[in-house]
Amino acid sequence: MVKKIGIDLGTTNLLICVDNEGVIVNEPSVITVDKESHKCIAAGAQAKAMVGKTPGNLQTIYPLKDGVVADYEATDMMLAHFFKKCDLKKMFSRNEILICCPTNITGVERNAIRDCAYHAGAKKVYIEEEPKVAAVGADLDIGQPLASFVLDIGGGTTDVAVISLGDIVCSASIKVAGNRLNKNITDFMRLEKKLSIGEMTAEKIKMEIGCAMVDPEDSKTMNVSGRDLTTGLPVSITISDAEIAECIHASLMEIVKACKTVLDVSPPELAADIMTRGLVMTGGGALLRNFDALLKQELKIPVYVAENPLNCVVDGCMKMLKNL
Ligand SMILES: Nc1ncnc2c1ncn2[C@@H]1O[C@H](COP(=O)(O)OP(=O)(O)OP(=O)(O)O)[C@@H](O)[C@H]1O
Ligand SMILES: [Mg+2]
Repeated sequence: MVKKIGIDLGTTNLLICVDNEGVIVNEPSVITVDKESHKCIAAGAQAKAMVGKTPGNLQTIYPLKDGVVADYEATDMMLAHFFKKCDLKKMFSRNEILICCPTNITGVERNAIRDCAYHAGAKKVYIEEEPKVAAVGADLDIGQPLASFVLDIGGGTTDVAVISLGDIVCSASIKVAGNRLNKNITDFMRLEKKLSIGEMTAEKIKMEIGCAMVDPEDSKTMNVSGRDLTTGLPVSITISDAEIAECIHASLMEIVKACKTVLDVSPPELAADIMTRGLVMTGGGALLRNFDALLKQELKIPVYVAENPLNCVVDGCMKMLKNL
């Protein structure tokens, strides 16, 4: 039997959907490997819970980096784990897999993604560019002769694209996304607050009090625990959303700049559409508080956040699987 499977192989999250069944996997893109046996002992949420806490014989691996396969073997192991768990790899199955990739990647990087889909058990593989699929998932009618302007901010990459008549007209992809913001926060805590924190804590800070612009009526603070770099002892300090907004500002402006670059090269007729139809934000980064307001202020066009930004790519896959 032919099963049509869609995969959003993200740097941070792996989502898998099956035609007529829906989303069957929504897990962090991470695995824990036993260093000696090279066996995957945990994947997804179970592996993420171990990040920063593993003993010497275990290793946490993020198989994807900047939206592309960084560790080929680990990507295979992660996909094999979930395909087995969901009973997707059967002896005589003829799976067709639609897998997404960032725009502007090299042929080698594209082939690596394709090969991983074949290793997962595909008989046929289709590759689609992430912003296009995200636009479909965000319910934009990309087949029309009208510009759809999409900004997909993931964990490793930010993709910006103008789409018309079903295809990407102009695009940009930068390696400034959620992971970079986490790093900005870790660096700020180390350099300014003399506090060493782990990546999970940085991400928690971003999600709880991170924002692109501070709202004086609704300012937030948070207690953060880590290791004091001067005494070496565990301590807890309070930080404000204004401090976090400042430390991530330069990265957010790089994303704004990528949008401006794409606007700059888009054909005038499509630019006119964008003036009225605006920009649609997808990907987990779209959930950063007030990022839409910052983009609106900088780009001077309407900006909308998709209804369920983290699921746009997999939702788009679901729709596209129907027409494979
Ligand atoms: N509420 C939130 N505020 C800010 N950032 C968030 C929020 N929720 C999730 N994120 C960030 O979104 C990112 C994950 O988004 P997403 O799942 O779209 O990425 P991905 O598809 O795995 O990555 P990529 O597309 O780059 O390969 C992470 O960096 C996460 O920290
Ligand atoms: Mg993504």
